[in-house]
Amino acid sequence: MTTALCPGSFDPPTNGHVDVIERAIAAFERVVVSVVDNPSKESLFSIEERISLLEELFGGRAEIGSFSGLLVEYAAEVGADVVVKGLRTVDDYEYEMQMSQMNRSLSGMETVFMATKSDWSFISSSLVKEVAKLGGSIDGLVPSAVEKALQERLT
Ligand SMILES: Nc1ncnc2c1ncn2[C@@H]1O[C@H](COP(=O)(O)OP(=O)(O)OP(=O)(O)O)[C@@H](O)[C@H]1O
Ligand SMILES: [Mg+2]
Repeated sequence: MTTALCPGSFDPPTNGHVDVIERAIAAFERVVVSVVDNPSKESLFSIEERISLLEELFGGRAEIGSFSGLLVEYAAEVGADVVVKGLRTVDDYEYEMQMSQMNRSLSGMETVFMATKSDWSFISSSLVKEVAKLGGSIDGLVPSAVEKALQERLT
């Protein structure tokens, strides 16, 4: 059985994340979606809130968790064979290429890249938060549960 790990900040999950994770669920037998607990990165939603949004979106189809520390160590703990990352821009490419090469050098872990659907290529959690904070519409950019959570958090 091939297990894929989809790591991310998911602060909050967007339609871009949903697209990549849905495609991972279709491609791999077991999928673990995990929130990276990075205390040095300021977040709008707590780890628990992000886990509960991900449970609402993928519960029953993927295992949801969180971790801090080295990705390759966590991947070994959950029995992941590959890491799945989405690629949007040249910036993603450069950063993700470097990370994937480091992870392979650390533990032999393979990274599989999924090219974003063009509809979502401009979406990041940061930009969605910025637009929502400034009062712009994020309708169609995030799942409805996330839109609701954002409205509640920002009003
Ligand atoms: N719109 C998108 N299309 C495809 N992949 C995406 C998209 N948004 C995020 N991803 C992928 O999801 C994974 C986790 O990303 P992350 O949680 O850092 O999202 P982010 O939107 O970049 O957040 P932030 O704005 O906080 O950096 C990464 O592999 C990233 O490339
Ligand atoms: Mg990012």
